[in-house]
Amino acid sequence: MKNNFKEDFLWGASSSAFQIEGAWDEDGKGMTVADFNSFKKSDVQADTKVASDFYHHFKEDISLMKELGMKTYRFSISWARIIPDGDGKVNQKGIDFYNKVIDLLLENDILPFITLYHFDLPFTLVEKYNGWESRDCVDAFERYAKVCFEAYGDRVKNWQTINEQNLMIRVNERMNIYNVPSENIEKVRAQMDYHMFVAHARATNACREMIPGGKIGPAVSSTMTYPSSNRPEDVWAAQMNDNFKTNYALEMYCFGEYPGYYKEYLTKCDLYPITKPEDEEVLKAAKPDFIAVNYYRTLVASYLPTNDSHSFGTKLKDIDFDLYGYFQIEKNPNLKATEYGAQIDPMGLRLVLNNYYEKYRYPLIITENGLGTADNLTDDGLIHDDYRINYLKDHIAACNDAIADGVELFGYCPWSVMDLLSSHQGFKKRYGFIYVDRVDHDVKELRRIKKDSFYWYKDVIKNNGLN
Ligand code: BG6
Repeated sequence: MKNNFKEDFLWGASSSAFQIEGAWDEDGKGMTVADFNSFKKSDVQADTKVASDFYHHFKEDISLMKELGMKTYRFSISWARIIPDGDGKVNQKGIDFYNKVIDLLLENDILPFITLYHFDLPFTLVEKYNGWESRDCVDAFERYAKVCFEAYGDRVKNWQTINEQNLMIRVNERMNIYNVPSENIEKVRAQMDYHMFVAHARATNACREMIPGGKIGPAVSSTMTYPSSNRPEDVWAAQMNDNFKTNYALEMYCFGEYPGYYKEYLTKCDLYPITKPEDEEVLKAAKPDFIAVNYYRTLVASYLPTNDSHSFGTKLKDIDFDLYGYFQIEKNPNLKATEYGAQIDPMGLRLVLNNYYEKYRYPLIITENGLGTADNLTDDGLIHDDYRINYLKDHIAACNDAIADGVELFGYCPWSVMDLLSSHQGFKKRYGFIYVDRVDHDVKELRRIKKDSFYWYKDVIKNNGLN
């Protein structure tokens, strides 16, 4: 296989604050939406209180990252550690913690790649404003972003604004859409979504003003949808599924406005958000420096006509919703799936990268990709995760092919650097190169154990993509 990765390709790995840090209320940190929701499930699975305890193990963890050879580490800052109530006083201890992490990474030649907001809105903003429903939340995010740029921008040049807004907005729990009457949910959701786009844009523009040489972009949860048949309406439905779940957001990020099909849907369904004239310039100015792609699986869709009981625009389910008048999701009989139902598809990654590059022409980086499954410690005290190695190997080969196709891909950061709290299955589902020895309801000693995939990925990085 010809190696197409450039010498300065950013091999790395990823995590997020609420899934890894623990110390959920230490040193002044406020509660977040992620904490709140995890506590509701504390009796059935691990919550955010300890997670992988990165807060107390970061020195050991960063030395493992160094040993792995990581060139970059994509992680998130917890907004509520920096500003506990979201828009009030800045917490110096929170600033100090990330200073220590950033400095140690740089001492070890690992570039920090920071996400400002990864599913963990400060809970006080929900109590005060119902979170993103209010424009106050946009102001709060812009201020928080500026606090981070001011504190870390001298050393951190790579930033992501919001992780997977396009997925988060589909999950009521993550948006905390609880007290909204069911008939208003979609209207509130559309307003929250719009406010997050304005917040993203304001942070992007601030980064440009405040950080010389800084680069900033969004991270999307990518979708690649195949038509269930070659009937033209199924082909259209598959395209609309991608449009409604991801591409409308990419259009907003890259061109500063919703595409026609999305405006039409919002208008026809009476969901159009309240906008302000001054947003237009802000949104259009906020061109990203890159697009970060999170990729786990592909989908299949077929056309879903309206009927007597389901009018145009009726939605069923959340994350992978069906939409009457447009599409419904189906299984792909040609692909194997993980035990949690994600259909494994390296070719889909090649297609997604080509698709985004052809349409938007921005450099791309993969900031999430990985296999979530149970890992078991064997009698030799190790983890033999050849299944993860195979998964990653195939996806790295797909990246290599995409580069040969002409895609400007500059980095690959699989999910996740170490085991962490899965967003749905606690510690039962693991993704890491480093095993964290704990289970849902027993944190044990949180020992770090290098999995077979750790040694394998170390070689991949050493050989710049081949091993
Ligand atoms: C991504 C999120 O959508 O998927 C991560 O950005 C998440 O936070 C990852 O952990 C995997 O999902 P899960 O539910 O298996 O943890």
